[in-house]
Amino acid sequence: MLESGLGGRVCLVTGAANGIGRACAELLAGEGARLALCDLDGERLEEVGGDAALRVAADLSRRAQVTRLLAATRERFGRLDVLIHCAGIYRVTPLPQVTDAEWDQLLDVNLRSAFLLAQGAVELMREGGDGRIVLVGSFAARTGGLRASAPYAASKAGVEGLTRHLAQYAGPLGVRVNCLHPGFTETPMTSILGEEAREEALRRTPLRRHCGPAEQASMAVVLASDLAAFVHGATLDVNGGMYMA
Ligand SMILES: NC(=O)c1ccc[n+]([C@@H]2O[C@H](COP(=O)([O-])OP(=O)(O)OC[C@H]3O[C@@H](n4cnc5c(N)ncnc54)[C@H](O)[C@@H]3O)[C@@H](O)[C@H]2O)c1
Repeated sequence: MLESGLGGRVCLVTGAANGIGRACAELLAGEGARLALCDLDGERLEEVGGDAALRVAADLSRRAQVTRLLAATRERFGRLDVLIHCAGIYRVTPLPQVTDAEWDQLLDVNLRSAFLLAQGAVELMREGGDGRIVLVGSFAARTGGLRASAPYAASKAGVEGLTRHLAQYAGPLGVRVNCLHPGFTETPMTSILGEEAREEALRRTPLRRHCGPAEQASMAVVLASDLAAFVHGATLDVNGGMYMA
């Protein structure tokens, strides 16, 4: 029998109000994990995780708010075992129209947040001598993306590089770090795309279907589980064959 080993573990999921993060929270709840959930959208977050979950509304691109989240997690549970960082934003702005403000926003929300969270999480996890971090990137890091703006693709490539640095630093401390690159996935994020883009995604996907957030969440949770005990510094593509390394 395959055992995730996540029962009773303290798992922090970001972007938990919607899409892939929400699916991760639901899956982890089913494994008996203790949940700390965060999202910018505090109202929608209230629907997720059940009575025992810690829910924190925060903007994770801001250091003070990340610090507050990690402190609240420690105060409630006394430890942190797993971080799955799903929070992110997407833009489809063509290159000539990308402003400095958009560049900064995408890099702050998608990449700085990963750095801030991982920096704090490694410190908490090393106290327990064991931890697992999964950062969510995107196939846009590999391919430039489907209608994705330049800062989106760049931010997600940054997440992949950050994963490798973190793996070198945190591996000896007992913290495993990996990256998940989803392909096109049906979530609120992609609901802004029109029919033409959705059909293009299908054409570029050899499995010839779109996937749902649960199919991404299951792989994120496996990476965080005992089932991936020797997987470290890896980037896992979950995209129906849209990109093959
Ligand atoms: N859906 C896809 O096709 C797809 C493809 C590749 C990668 N991804 C990545 O997967 C991750 C999850 O995407 P999703 O499709 O579930 O998106 P989503 O929009 O459904 O959910 C993202 C969540 O992040 C939250 N969020 C946004 N900015 C935040 C901030 N500053 N602080 C805290 N929370 C914030 C949002 O409120 C939202 O609940 C993202 O990093 C995304 O870039 C998604």
